[in-house]
Amino acid sequence: MPKLRSLLAGVFAPALVVASLLSVPAMAQEDAMPREKWSFEKLFGTFDLAAAQRGFQIYSGVCSNCHSLKLLHYRDLSGIGLEPEQIKAVAAGFTVPLGTDDQGNPKEGPATPASAFRSPFANDKAARVANNGALPPDLSLIVNAREGGANYVYGILTGYVPAPAAFKMQDGLYYNKMYPGHQIGMPQPLQDGTVEYTDGTGTSLDQEAHDVVTFLSWAANPETVERKQIGVRVVLFLVFMTGLTYAVKRKVWSNVHH
Ligand code: HEC
Repeated sequence: MPKLRSLLAGVFAPALVVASLLSVPAMAQEDAMPREKWSFEKLFGTFDLAAAQRGFQIYSGVCSNCHSLKLLHYRDLSGIGLEPEQIKAVAAGFTVPLGTDDQGNPKEGPATPASAFRSPFANDKAARVANNGALPPDLSLIVNAREGGANYVYGILTGYVPAPAAFKMQDGLYYNKMYPGHQIGMPQPLQDGTVEYTDGTGTSLDQEAHDVVTFLSWAANPETVERKQIGVRVVLFLVFMTGLTYAVKRKVWSNVHH
């Protein structure tokens, strides 16, 4: 029996190590930090591609007016389940810089799947001028760049509340309970019903925030989706191998005892 136990331990220990590598490390959280349930944080969960696609709709319709997503190209949208034809159509809807013409003048035209996401402003200075001096950061890696990650960004989007009576607000800033210092240069971007979904999902502020954060989490960690799929297969394989090893062991030793 001890032999069997160590055999099982030998097979299960690596499985546990693999399993723990697949889980997202816990993040330090303040009390105010919302604790949303994210598809991508569950060990055996799959990435919620429908939510990510709705989130892309929100990014395109709302956030992209101020925020760039420089690290993404339209073809990357295959990662959230868009088909090549859909990607072509999406890209064609955006006008992007296309180098220079024969005279050396900057040229613009419809984006292709190979184009980088369209940026709303030509440069940081123009971005600041349009936003009361505040710079809307590029959102490509924002979920990884902020303590609290997805929960923090969700907290910002749902954190607009009236300032406490005694709170002194600076002009042109907005009160946000999640933002450090509580005064943010971004006007509240989402409310109930800001977008219209085609898949029948409700458009509460919470739902919209959840979806766009799912999209931004994918944008910052596109390999998560793939890792989820591979991870489940690895664990299934290990379970299968455990069974097989045990069966072989019984077969091999069955004669010895008699
Ligand atoms: C009207 C322009 C505008 C829109 C639309 C907008 N933002 Fe912002 N956003 C800003 C500006 C400006 C800042 C910088 C605020 C500051 O520095 O105080 C900012 C900051 C942020 C930050 C960083 C907060 C931090 O911790 O530094 C996040 C995250 C963010 N926006 C997400 C979004 C998302 C998601 C959307 C779409 C749902 C969106 N924004 C729509 C202007 C905008």
